[in-house]
Amino acid sequence: MSLLEVENLSAYYITHAYGVQRDVRAVDNITFSMEENEIVGLAGESGCGKSTLIKVLLAIIKPPLRVLSGQVNYSYDGKKFNLLTLEREQLRKVQWEDISYIPQGSMSTLNPVRKIRKTFEDVIKAHKKSESREEYERLMEEHIKYLGLPLEVLDSYPHQLSGGMRQRTTIALATILKPKIIFADEPTTALDVVVQRGVIQMLKQLHEEQKNTMLIVTHDMAVHANVAEKIAIMYAGKIVEIAEKKELFTAPKHPYSQFLIQSLPRIGDKRRRTSAPGNPPSLADPPPGCRFHPRCPYVKDVCKRHIPKLIEYEESHNIACFLYSSEIEEGEEIVQEIIRS
Ligand SMILES: Nc1ncnc2c1ncn2[C@@H]1O[C@H](COP(=O)(O)OP(=O)(O)O)[C@@H](O)[C@H]1O
Ligand SMILES: [Mg+2]
Repeated sequence: MSLLEVENLSAYYITHAYGVQRDVRAVDNITFSMEENEIVGLAGESGCGKSTLIKVLLAIIKPPLRVLSGQVNYSYDGKKFNLLTLEREQLRKVQWEDISYIPQGSMSTLNPVRKIRKTFEDVIKAHKKSESREEYERLMEEHIKYLGLPLEVLDSYPHQLSGGMRQRTTIALATILKPKIIFADEPTTALDVVVQRGVIQMLKQLHEEQKNTMLIVTHDMAVHANVAEKIAIMYAGKIVEIAEKKELFTAPKHPYSQFLIQSLPRIGDKRRRTSAPGNPPSLADPPPGCRFHPRCPYVKDVCKRHIPKLIEYEESHNIACFLYSSEIEEGEEIVQEIIRS
């Protein structure tokens, strides 16, 4: 079994205005898996559902977001569970300690009115009740030093740190308990290039030491090229392709992935970059069939009526496109409410 197996996961933002229900289908029947110790990059245009997917994989689900169907199965160290069915107490235990999160925007996990040391202590205490204060301190200082941060950050308030230092502190906090899996949401966005490099280096170093599995979300393909081993491409609430990095950069198969890769700037190449014609659809009213069909140069009749299933095209290369398979996704209308009502 894989470390993480996501099955038929759908999560919508459901709102009501003037008696009309509006569903934003941010995560739309997604099935994929992640193996122990791998780094997967999740790419896709802004608004395609990347952050929402991560939140559901962490079971951070607040209205108007609702999970309509599916399972988020984790399996590690002899444990096996669907995260979406855990009781609050069990959930609190695995979140952070086993399944950790580097959220978008480094201020959200650091309390602005507390010194950083306090925030670290709170996290450690909440999970390692038996250990002594000295033990907490040692754990914290070792980790900070290992990551090449000055110990002074511990006695600072978040606003006293530069953006880059704050982001690195957030990453240190997310990994202090050596989690099995880390979800990083745009960890380098809004940082300048030199600082970005430091943050990427830090993630790689952590991965080397802690052997954690990582899902790194960014729309910056250069970051993916640098850290990811596999890349998953998301479009309009769905994963349309997953492949080894080299394969995806050199021979992308899904027409949307081809557009993404072709639109990357290349050194010394002055040609105008092509991007897909048109815009991504509204997730409140996605087109029928393949979500990409209105923009696809290879559109066929079947693409307008049916949703292609994400199938294994070759080993470690999955694609959801009728150019490569005629398998149709089933039951898209039968979303069943199982939890969180
Ligand atoms: N609280 C919310 N209520 C309604 N819609 C939302 C909410 N948060 C996000 N969305 C919508 O869900 C879709 C996916 O958003 P998000 O997961 O943040 O995308 P990404 O991270 O890929 O930019 C977008 O259309 C966004 O507008
Ligand atoms: Mg996002």
